[in-house]
Formats: sequence, C-alpha cells, structure tokens
Amino acid sequence: MIYVNNNNEFHLSTANTSYIMKVLKSNHLSHLYYGRRIKDRNDYSNLYRSYATPVGNETDYSKKCNNYSLNVTNLEIATYGKSDYGEPSLQIEMEDNSRVSDFLYQSHIIYEGNKQLIGLPHTFQNEDKVESLEITLYDQIVDVYVVLIYKVFYDRDIITRSMKIINGESSKIKIEKAMSLNIDFENNNYDLITLEGKWIREKHIQKQRLKKGVYYINSKRFTSSADHNPFMCLADIDVTEDYGSCYGFALIYSGNHQGLVEVNPHNRTRIQMGINPFDFSWILDEKKEFQTPEVIMTYSYRGLGDMSRNFHNAINYNLIPKQWQFRKRPLLYNSWEAVYFDFNEKKLLKLAKMAKELGMELFVLDDGWFKGRNDDTTSLGDWIEDNKKLPNGLAGLSSKINELGLQFGIWVEPEMISKESDLYRRHPNWVIKLDNRESSLGRNQLMLDMANPNVISYLYNQLSSVFKRGKVRYVKWDMNRSVTDIYSSYLPKHRQKELAHRYILGLYDLIGRLKNDFEDILFESCASGGNRYDLGMLYYMPQTWASDNTDPGERMNIQYGSSLLYPLSTLGAHVGSNPSHQVLRQNNIESRFNVACFGLLGYELNLNNLSNFEKKAIKKQVEFYKKHRKLLQFGTFYRIKSPFNSNHAVWMVVSKDKDEALLGYYQKLQESNENLETVKLKGLDKNASYHLESREQYMNIERFGELINDYVPFNVKTNGLRGIVHKTISDNYMFKNDVQKIDTFGDSLMYAGFKLLQQFNGAGFNENVRYIGDFGSRIYYIKRFQ
Ligand code: DGJ
Repeated sequence: MIYVNNNNEFHLSTANTSYIMKVLKSNHLSHLYYGRRIKDRNDYSNLYRSYATPVGNETDYSKKCNNYSLNVTNLEIATYGKSDYGEPSLQIEMEDNSRVSDFLYQSHIIYEGNKQLIGLPHTFQNEDKVESLEITLYDQIVDVYVVLIYKVFYDRDIITRSMKIINGESSKIKIEKAMSLNIDFENNNYDLITLEGKWIREKHIQKQRLKKGVYYINSKRFTSSADHNPFMCLADIDVTEDYGSCYGFALIYSGNHQGLVEVNPHNRTRIQMGINPFDFSWILDEKKEFQTPEVIMTYSYRGLGDMSRNFHNAINYNLIPKQWQFRKRPLLYNSWEAVYFDFNEKKLLKLAKMAKELGMELFVLDDGWFKGRNDDTTSLGDWIEDNKKLPNGLAGLSSKINELGLQFGIWVEPEMISKESDLYRRHPNWVIKLDNRESSLGRNQLMLDMANPNVISYLYNQLSSVFKRGKVRYVKWDMNRSVTDIYSSYLPKHRQKELAHRYILGLYDLIGRLKNDFEDILFESCASGGNRYDLGMLYYMPQTWASDNTDPGERMNIQYGSSLLYPLSTLGAHVGSNPSHQVLRQNNIESRFNVACFGLLGYELNLNNLSNFEKKAIKKQVEFYKKHRKLLQFGTFYRIKSPFNSNHAVWMVVSKDKDEALLGYYQKLQESNENLETVKLKGLDKNASYHLESREQYMNIERFGELINDYVPFNVKTNGLRGIVHKTISDNYMFKNDVQKIDTFGDSLMYAGFKLLQQFNGAGFNENVRYIGDFGSRIYYIKRFQ
C-alpha cells in the first residue's frame, strides 16, 4: 500500500515492512525510515531529525533553511555541488560544462499495478497486490526532470526502485552516473554481506563490518560477472538465519554494475546500486529519457533466511517468464564433460540411449556441433551450418534423439565471434575492437558489437533457423569472455562510453524477441558457469548454469551462497565425473547427486564409463528426483548450517502446505571420533506428526578397503591383480547405507532437533552407524502423517 499524508510524507508499506520518505522544507526528498512495519499515520515528523545549531565545517544549503546541510541529511537522491560531499547517485554535465544539479520535489502519482520498463527486465504484477509511486523532481536551472519509480509488492515484502531522467527542452546533457537506488541510513551498525567469486568458485559469502569510507563491488567485464554478484545485504552485526534485521538489495541487470556503501563522517550509511559509472556516460538529447535498471529490495527482522525467501518468492512469481513459473523442468543430460569436442553422431546416440535407459528426459548437445567447430578456436558466428561430425545435420540428430524418447536441446554462444569464421571475414567491423591495437583474445574469441542493430538482426535470423531446424526444446545460452579493446565502429565517437550499456540493451532486445517467439523453448543462461547468474538474465531465461564446477564439495559452497538470493527453480546443477574435472577430487556418486538434486538436476559425465554400481545408483536417484521434483525445484528453502563457517552444510526444502520436506546433510572432512550430532529442522508444522526416513543410498564397498574382510567369510585382497575380486564384489553388490526412521512431531524436530546416527568412529560398524567419510552426505525425507 502507498499512503501520502498532509505533511508530504510517503509511506510505502508491505505486509511486514515500511519505507517512509518526506519532502523537506527545502523540497529535497529525504529518506526517513526503512524497516519493520509501522502504522500509517498523518505525521512522521518524529522520524526526521536535524541539527539545531550549525554543524562545524558543513555548508549551509541555503540561507532560507537554517543549519541545513545536505551532508547531514538522509536523501533519496544525491547530487554533488549543493552541500552534500558524499558519493552522488546522479551526476550530469550540462552543455556549458557545469556539473551542479539540485533536484526538488515537483509532483507525484500513485497507481495500481506497474508499468513496464521498456527495453529493460523488470518485476511485474502477477495476480498479487502491486502499487506504484512515481515522484517527479525537477532542477529548474538546468531544466532536467528525475522520476523516482517505486513499486510495492505487498504480500512479498518487496519494494523496487528505478530512476528515469528526462531532459527538458533547453539543451543536451551528459549523464555521468545514474544509480538506480540511493538510500541513506542514519547509522552504520551493520555488516555488509556480498557474494564474491571467480570461475569454478562462484558466490562465496563475504561478510565485513562497515567502516568509515567508501566500499564498492562492481563489474567492468560487460557481464555482471562472478567477481561480485549484483547483490548486497546490510545486516545487524548479530544477524542469524532466523533472527535479526537485514536489508537485501539486488539489481536487475546483467552488465557492468556497481554497488556502493559509504559511511560518512557523521555515520550516515549510504547505499547505492546501478549501472557502473566507470567508463560510462550517456548523451541525452533534448526531451529524451534515460531509464535505469530496477533494484529489488526487501527487509526482514526475521533474519537472513526470511530475506532470501522474500527474494525467492519475488523471483518465482514476479520476475521469471510466466510460462515457466512453477512448471516442472526436465531432467537433462549434457554432453560437455562427457566428450567435449570429441564426438560424432554414433557416439552421441550411444550416450543418448544410455541417458534414456537411466531415466533422463532431455539430451543437450553442448559446444562443437556447428561449422568447423572442433576446438575452441573457430566458427563462433557461423550458426547456420552443421558440423561434418553430424552427417545428418542437427535435424537428423534431433529426430533420432526424439525417436529414443528424449527431447533435444542445444548449446549456443551468440554474442561471440571467432576470427576464423565466415562472419568475421564478412563483417570484421561487427566486432568490439580498436583498429590501431591488436585485440586481446579470451578463449580465442572476440565479442560482437551488440550495440549494432545489424548484429542483433543477424543473430535473430540465424538462431531462429537453428531452433526450428533442430526441433529444439532447450537452449543453453553461453558467454565465455570478458570485454577488452572497447570500441564500437557502429557508435559515433562521442557516444563510445554508451557501449557497455548499449551492449546489454542489444542483448535484452535479442533474447526478449527469441523468448517471445519460442515460448516452448526452455532457455538456460550460462557464462563460463555463473558469470552472469543475475536477475536480468532470469527475466528472459528462467534458469542459469550456476557453475562449471560439479565437484560436490565445491558445489555445496556455491549453492549455499547462491541461495542467499536465487531460488532452487533457477539453479542448474549437474552430477559430474569422478574425479571431478575441476578439482580432481574423488567423489562418490551419491554425494554428487545429493548436492545437485537441490536445484535443476542434470547429469554431465560419460555414461558409457559408468560402473554397474554407479548405473544402479543413478537409476535410483533419477526415480527419487522425479518423485520429489516439485519439492526440489519449487519448495521453500531453509538454510540450517553454513559450509562457510563449519565442517558441514545443512539445508532443507519444505512444501507450501508443510506436508513434506527434504533435508540435505553434507560433510567436508571426516573428523575422527566425531561427536553425536543434532540438526534442528525448520519450516515444519509444529503441531503435525512427521515420519522421517533416510533416502535409500548405497556405498561402494571398496571404500572399506581391507576392513571388508571383517564382513565376508573368505579373504579378499584389496590391491594388485587379486584386487579384482574386491572390484567385482563392489560392482555387483549394492551395500546399503544406514537407514534412519523416526516418527515424531514437528515441534520436536524443530526445537529439540533431529538426532542423527553416530558417525563411523574407527571402533566398529553396524547398521546404526553412519559411514559418511570425506565429502559424504545424506538426504532425509520427512512426511506428515497426522
Ligand atoms: C563454458 C560452459 O560453462 C561449459 O558448460 C560449456 O558449455 C563450454 N563453455 C562449452 O564451450
């Protein structure tokens, strides 16, 4: 709900939160409060404070307002040059080269629902209560308007904000910085939580105490990047998953971004998010508009878990494409880590046959299917011609895959171009490059100039034809390098600093059209794994390949970190090879599954190299996933134990009606003589009775080594030639892990906790001992019976 009272105060309220602003006497828009919901009132002047005497060394804004300096005022938009010395959220340069601006309240409108942000991804109303507020500010001297756009998603505890700059009639202006969000909080007692990473190590949680000065996260790569995800959280210093206040902010944008936190000398904490002002400017002609991306924010006094669930709901209901909301995602097989570029039709069909036999539903042919693409040095850009490795072409292959009873999916990397390609030979000027410098290459490739509409039309035509030809039902949209040699031969000289943003607008235009034309294709975005796992891409493509790292030990960190913002319905997770291709760590097939199934499950390993044991285990896993798919893809997610500060990760998903749940328990290193463990479950109905039971899971008895002789009546050698007996037994005998079954109450499982069986302690083994080992794991299914 949005209320305005007679004191020119705006109250944006959601079910549990309030966001309050005030038009001051000077006509600046001041931020008064964001936090736990307070009642709507006719007067919030108690929330506004100012100094009664001058503040030493601060500048008076105007002699009309005594002791009033913007540097000690909490603002909704900040500019430089009129007594605020903090980081501006909007900087413009006028034609006379002056840079001072000062935006004052002019008018506002409130309406039900929301408008679209043309050309940019945005949240939208979805049969829920949404109201919007647009506040127009105006600087009369420079004749520029600023519209602050707020959307209130009442039931989700979500408020969004973006900004539109409208030039008047007088002259051109140059926008140097236009942050979507600016909030000033009146103290600095917060921790800043961000998601940091790099390739195969995305979204690690970083927490730091705020200090005086400026701290920012950003990207200059033309992708949102794994360096710093466009997400920030300000939290009470003692916040936990379940208690304490926290604010989450996430930018709906996929390119160069910046998130900034500044604590000024008066302890004012300023937070901003938006397009990275570095190497950016935008020339705005007379009467033209510039729309910034949208930030989505949420507040919770119930800890980080609640903050995440607010984000998850907003993404699931109000951001991802409607046709994919809560629609079951197929269990896929991906060819990449199985064969890389080394395949032919026969090999692929053999893999597909096995995938089908094991229960998979969609076969994805990854890189290497087009033109001369036999390694990563050629052919990007030439999407129209199939590779000779496929004598019957994509069409022939996909028909055969369909005949096996599998859907067919394909990999593309449209924004890229190889020097060795027909496209480069025909259109060398479609590339981002400088003619007087040798271009730096990333993975042997260059980037197309997505600011050029001819490039967009070319890609649209080529891709539409591929999607039709291959009867494609799934597309993995990859992007594997960061920008260098930044220059567009399409843009005029004085607009070169618009390139980074225009690149993203071109990309959004292309994927927006393809999404609308191919409604039944499931798009998954990818950028060397999680380099573009952001809310902008999710608006067009409902899922993202979270990381190229499929090692379960690494994935538990990545998936735990990702869950701070992203719901399971968006998170692509595959069972990879053993040892892991990314860290060469030995892993058992059950742990690989136990991590990957909390997300959109796929298998990405050479199925023809599987042992009997692994095949049998996979069949059981697939059966389990299909049975619990809805819960695993769309259930409500709770984090219980963090791998970032303990030897375990523990999390769970619960169905909306709290009738069933799945608990995932993961260990890093086996500790000797481990204590007895208790896990407190979350999200259940405290009055209900539940049955808890371990997922049927198997262990390869090879892991017992010589100890196997304690269990079989004959002597088994574990090494050398005679070790073959050991191997044969392990291949044919499915050793069932401990099974724990408990009937109890929701309150007991949540408040007293679930008491796990003891771990193996070196002094014996029976069916009441959990043999977890290094990077071992368990899943428990919990079902209401009363
Ligand atoms: C990078 C992706 O992250 C991988 O999954 C794979 O698709 C390769 N590109 C293919 O080149």
